[in-house]
Amino acid sequence: MAEKLLEVKNLKTSFFTHVGEVKAVNDVSFDVYEGQTVGIVGESGSGKSVTSMSIMRLIAPPGKIVDGQIIFEGKDILKLSEKEMRDIRGNKISMIFQDPMTSLNPVFTIGNQLIEAIKIHNKVSKAQAKKRAVEMLKLVGIPSPERRLSQYPHEFSGGMRQRVMIAMALSCNPKLLIADEPTTALDVTIQAQILDLLKKLQQQLKMSIILITHDLGVVADICQKVIVMYGGIIVEEGTVDDIFYNPKHPYTWGLLRSVPKMHLGLKKRLVPIEGQPPDLLKPPKGCPFAPRCEYAMRVCLEARPPLFEVGDGHRSRCWLNHQYAPQELLEKVKAANE
Ligand SMILES: Nc1ncnc2c1ncn2[C@@H]1O[C@H](COP(=O)(O)OP(=O)(O)OP(=O)(O)O)[C@@H](O)[C@H]1O
Ligand SMILES: [Mg+2]
Repeated sequence: MAEKLLEVKNLKTSFFTHVGEVKAVNDVSFDVYEGQTVGIVGESGSGKSVTSMSIMRLIAPPGKIVDGQIIFEGKDILKLSEKEMRDIRGNKISMIFQDPMTSLNPVFTIGNQLIEAIKIHNKVSKAQAKKRAVEMLKLVGIPSPERRLSQYPHEFSGGMRQRVMIAMALSCNPKLLIADEPTTALDVTIQAQILDLLKKLQQQLKMSIILITHDLGVVADICQKVIVMYGGIIVEEGTVDDIFYNPKHPYTWGLLRSVPKMHLGLKKRLVPIEGQPPDLLKPPKGCPFAPRCEYAMRVCLEARPPLFEVGDGHRSRCWLNHQYAPQELLEKVKAANE
């Protein structure tokens, strides 16, 4: 049985803007086991990036982690000093960002940046760092890596830049890789190559991955566990099979309906989920999805449902699943009604 590597517990992260507190992540809990790939899906603004930036402790003012624990290898990283955290960021947890052009410096060569990253995190000579840089570029499938080292980011294609970013993120041999939409800026063929690469590297290096994406197809392909976020909270969590073959939350149903199905041909239109995401400045009292949910009942507008345990490791935050309610909750509701 694999060990638990990361445990996010009741994480709350807010942005304190001049118009008020934006509750971007509002009580999120999940685990990542060693060697596991966990997908986080959900529409724009649901809190996926803020969750990952919180794990990296890279939330900058006006943002702040307001509450919760992030236990990594048994230690709460929210309690570490900035220096200790830098150590973790470089050696244990790495992140790949969405747009490689903003993360690579255009005025330095790829070799320069890669060697620098390797030297910061490993006590090695320049020659050793260069050797490792070549190995890393080879590992991520860049041809003639020695020659490529002396080139600048603009001399690489988008897909290749993303490969360099992956090489940089992996150069410290992390236990956990967080990939925030690593392929959205790329065309589909390159996307598939990068994802194959991630899958291969994960097996080779035995790391855990948190993969953030809009794309359910990608999730089905490389994740074992899926977390569905909506309006700053987790609405459903389960294995890939749970989410694709036995989804329990109407928002997940909506997401699955909006996936294009090739066998139906292009004439079949996508079914978008009608309506707007919730205003995180004033999160609704009840379920944040209720105003857009075709199954909404009165209770949905009045009380936020708990994450019901609807199967082994399968959780859904919907009152439709009330038959899974724990006894003490049913008793509380009964008492309130008497
Ligand atoms: N610096 C900031 N100031 C104020 N609000 C912010 C800031 N950064 C993020 N937010 C808010 O936090 C919420 C969650 O944002 P987040 O970036 O996590 O969304 P996401 O799920 O990653 O979306 P996308 O799929 O578009 O990347 C959004 O409502 C966003 O407006
Ligand atoms: Mg994002």
